[in-house]
Amino acid sequence: MSTAISPTAYNYKVVRQFAIMTVVWGILGMGLGVFIASQLVWPELNFGLPWTTFGRLRPLHTNLVIFAFGGCALFATSYYVVQRTCQTRLISDSLAAFHFWGWQAVIVGAIVTLPLGYTTTKEYAELEWPLAILLAIVWVTYGLVFFGTIVKRKTKHIYVGNWFYGAFIVVTAMLHIVNHMSLPVSLFKSYSAYSGATDAMIQWWYGHNAVGFFLTTGFLGMMYYFVPKQAERPIYSYRLSIVHFWALITLYIWAGPHHLHYTALPDWAQSLGMAMSIILLAPSWGGMINGMMTLSGAWHKLRTDPILRFLVVSLAFYGMSTFEGPMMAIKTVNSLSHYTDWTIGHVHAGALGWVAMISIGAIYHMIPKLFGRAQMHSIGLINAHFWLATIGTVLYIASMWVNGITQGLMWRAINDDGTLTYSFVEALQASHPGYIVRALGGAFFASGMLFMAYNVFRTVRASNPAEAEAAEQIAVVGAH
Ligand code: HEM
Ligand code: HEM
Repeated sequence: MSTAISPTAYNYKVVRQFAIMTVVWGILGMGLGVFIASQLVWPELNFGLPWTTFGRLRPLHTNLVIFAFGGCALFATSYYVVQRTCQTRLISDSLAAFHFWGWQAVIVGAIVTLPLGYTTTKEYAELEWPLAILLAIVWVTYGLVFFGTIVKRKTKHIYVGNWFYGAFIVVTAMLHIVNHMSLPVSLFKSYSAYSGATDAMIQWWYGHNAVGFFLTTGFLGMMYYFVPKQAERPIYSYRLSIVHFWALITLYIWAGPHHLHYTALPDWAQSLGMAMSIILLAPSWGGMINGMMTLSGAWHKLRTDPILRFLVVSLAFYGMSTFEGPMMAIKTVNSLSHYTDWTIGHVHAGALGWVAMISIGAIYHMIPKLFGRAQMHSIGLINAHFWLATIGTVLYIASMWVNGITQGLMWRAINDDGTLTYSFVEALQASHPGYIVRALGGAFFASGMLFMAYNVFRTVRASNPAEAEAAEQIAVVGAH
């Protein structure tokens, strides 16, 4: 069948592959999240084996949800968006296929090496040098395919969503390569090229911008395409989107030191990080408002369209976490929140509420189009998924706020004679109910993903991908 399709049709194969793997890795990564959350409630679940302990599974959770789930969502959507907005096929099918298989190989490498204890010990950059090099090669390939496609576009204009995706690709490459500079001493052990406070600064320049460019800028690219598409309204303000882009990428890169308050990092650097983080509220909210206002005149659609609800609620959580972040970056607030579950709550307000919700909305939007169906198999199941995800996120973050503030206050409480009022174990006991609620919230969220898998499976089973590509071919030809 596929030979009948002219080369002008889009390459949907790689989009379909990444879209399906988003769901698969989402289930595994979040399932593992529920498991490690349960370990914090019932420590017996560590099973006394080195490779099943919390310390080894936690980085596997972060790698699976950020790079496997989040990464596949970003790749699927960016390849979909760049082809449609540039009205041209990806520049190379074989490079795109290398990107897909290479990325899956990196993830499988993480699944094998992290539980075995091979790690650089740098958070979100744990993969040892052979995997880090493979990742860099795959990433550069992705950049070639994406920017090559932009170069051969048939439209005059580069849609703003592509600007965000482009910045995410360029900056992630820079962060990954600089932060991974290291000296290998064996196949699975290397030492960082940096030392002391410099190493910490480079690591959190990387870590914060992994949040800023991987978990935010890329997903804003998604927002600028899928919110207007699903709402069937043009973006509220194109001018605001341009200001949003330049302000966001200019400011984010300076905010890393807020992860290192009250450390050996020079004080001026900490204060600079704090100031830049506070200013960052402005572009973050500018983007959030631009997305929300796109619904002007289309708010009624929220009553009947659960996909749009995913997209809009993700923007609400984005707004919430980008208000909370600048507040936590203030040194005096950070002296209470740092080391506590408040940070974990903030992370998941962004991760579940923003990153996962917008990805889920975008995947539900794309799947029928990728597989030649009018719509998803069941709208009712999408609705059920929406409520499981929303309630799950709220349970997660509310319990972590309560835990975080309780821990911060108990740790700093001092008796008249200068001794500590509470022992660490007392603060831990006070946190136990919150850990149960968090595990429950996580289970809500993860079970929603199972509904999604079933719904996607039923939609794909009834599909005709060749028809989907042929329909696109007609659309492309028709556009010229
Ligand atoms: C069912 C959903 C999820 C559950 C139950 C869950 C649970 C957890 C748990 C228990 C931790 C360790 C917290 C600690 O050390 O005290 C954690 C850490 C983390 N999770 Fe999740 N998670 C989920 C989904 C996600 C998603 C979708 C993302 C990203 C897109 C994510 C990103 C992270 C990050 C970045 C950390 C490390 C936070 C830090 O070091 O401050 N999680 N998660
Ligand atoms: C204006 C936006 C934001 C600012 C200024 C900000 C600021 C902060 C601050 C101050 C911390 C605590 C650092 C510490 O005490 O260790 C933090 C942690 C974190 N934030 Fe944000 N945040 C923002 C948005 C977001 C968003 C949207 C996400 C997720 C999508 C996110 C993900 C994280 C993660 C993963 C951490 C934990 C890092 C770690 O210690 O492992 N942040 N952020």
